[in-house]
Amino acid sequence: MTTASIGNETAIASTQAPVVKLTMLLSGVVFLLMMVFGLIMRAAQGGLIELDPEFFYLLLTAHGAGMVGSAALSGAAILWYFSARYLDLRGGIYLGFLGLFLLGVVLILGSIFVGGYGGAWTFLFPLPALSGGLWEAGAAVAFCLGYVAIGVGFLLYYLELGLKISARYRGLLGGLGWRYLFGGSDADLPPPTIIAASSVLVFNTIGIVFGAAVLAASIVNLLFPSFAVDPLLAKNAIYFFGHVFINATIYMAITAVYEILPTYTGRPWKTTRVFVGAWAAVVIFVQAVYFHHLLQDVNMPAWTLAVGQIVSYASGIPLIGVTVFSLAVYIKGSGLKWDLPVSLLTLGVIGWGVGVIPAIVDGMVAVNKLMHNTQWVPGHFHTYLLLGEVAMAFGFAAWLVRDAARQTMSGLDKLVFRAYVLGGAGFTLIFLWSGASSIPRRWAVHYEDWQFQSQLASVFALVVILATTVLVLRYAIGLLRRSP
Ligand code: HEM
Repeated sequence: MTTASIGNETAIASTQAPVVKLTMLLSGVVFLLMMVFGLIMRAAQGGLIELDPEFFYLLLTAHGAGMVGSAALSGAAILWYFSARYLDLRGGIYLGFLGLFLLGVVLILGSIFVGGYGGAWTFLFPLPALSGGLWEAGAAVAFCLGYVAIGVGFLLYYLELGLKISARYRGLLGGLGWRYLFGGSDADLPPPTIIAASSVLVFNTIGIVFGAAVLAASIVNLLFPSFAVDPLLAKNAIYFFGHVFINATIYMAITAVYEILPTYTGRPWKTTRVFVGAWAAVVIFVQAVYFHHLLQDVNMPAWTLAVGQIVSYASGIPLIGVTVFSLAVYIKGSGLKWDLPVSLLTLGVIGWGVGVIPAIVDGMVAVNKLMHNTQWVPGHFHTYLLLGEVAMAFGFAAWLVRDAARQTMSGLDKLVFRAYVLGGAGFTLIFLWSGASSIPRRWAVHYEDWQFQSQLASVFALVVILATTVLVLRYAIGLLRRSP
């Protein structure tokens, strides 16, 4: 099959689109539910409601795993949808991926709400085994097995992408654009989406393999406690996996910007040497930077901490320098007409770029010593997830059900968009403010002196939730209207 024959929406619509649309609905509903869990936690920290601390940690675990999972699922759906414009992807593989993902969700939800597992989405060794009697080893095993199912689903997904990219672009180096970068010809140069797909599949596959190894070791340790695991090695593997995996969600979703923006600006997103170079840097830096999660581990070799700090600066450059700058250049003077999809996609890029700044600040040893266990950390990742990946996902969903005849924003669209931006910015800024005031993260109960920030944040969270409810409903109604 040639690029031309599959490079149109009709081909996608007939095969991949229905299941991608369903995935986006699923992700939207889970985002919304997890936001409600988040509001309950924030309201409890603010003393607005009474919440059993044990239940707080169940909600925290479900919220962390559910949000990261939905970000990954929506990112994967977006990448699949647009890759299918250039590759003859097999729908059966996507269904297998989705089936394994849902199996993982069932295991994780069961482990939390039936088994009482509350060891957080990071399953940090040996916490799953040290429950203090709150959950049995079986619940922790079910949680880990849920992750394994999701990981296997993703490996299957990336294998299919890798096979098809290699066949179409003469190997993975061709797909990454590295042959062109290092002096080769630009014949058969992949589009930006394929460069992104190739890059993500390389680093996320490596991350998932590390995650699977430490999950397997944790499961054996839970079942046979005499099987010893080196805690520092386990922590390295977990943070390598977690860091790479959450970043991959955004690097998958960004393809919606590459593919959709040009239909508004009339300017195709080009594969330039700078673009390919930036993605090549991402492949390396996104892996090397994970050491910044371990800056407080004094028994780590000093050089790893130095790498963590230095790469934290460097990893922001390809991101901010190329994506945000290119977006501004493509939009400027294009006469683009702002509607809801393009507004959300642009917000996603800005939120991503802005959220990276407090992350870089936290990646400095001197700051990290003070800030790492404070709410500064949820502050930075909520910025580039809530106002970044999730905004891109909702932008893509809104685009899937857009009314092509209408090129402007309705009054409701404007209200919803403004509420999402205002609520999201207020909510995330308060996390940063709380972190700067040394309020610790992951505390179920807050001192009275800290409660004002949580109360204010709860109001902003409510605004985000109301806006998200409209976005999800609008999407669901759009799907119903369009179904034959
Ligand atoms: C209205 C929206 C949201 C609200 C109200 C909310 C609320 C919260 C709260 C209260 C915490 C615990 C903070 C602490 O450590 O003290 C938290 C943690 C977290 N949130 Fe959110 N959140 C929202 C959106 C999101 C989104 C969109 C994502 C990702 C896509 C996300 C991912 C996470 C993660 C990964 C954690 C860390 C869990 C842990 O520490 O184990 N949240 N959130």
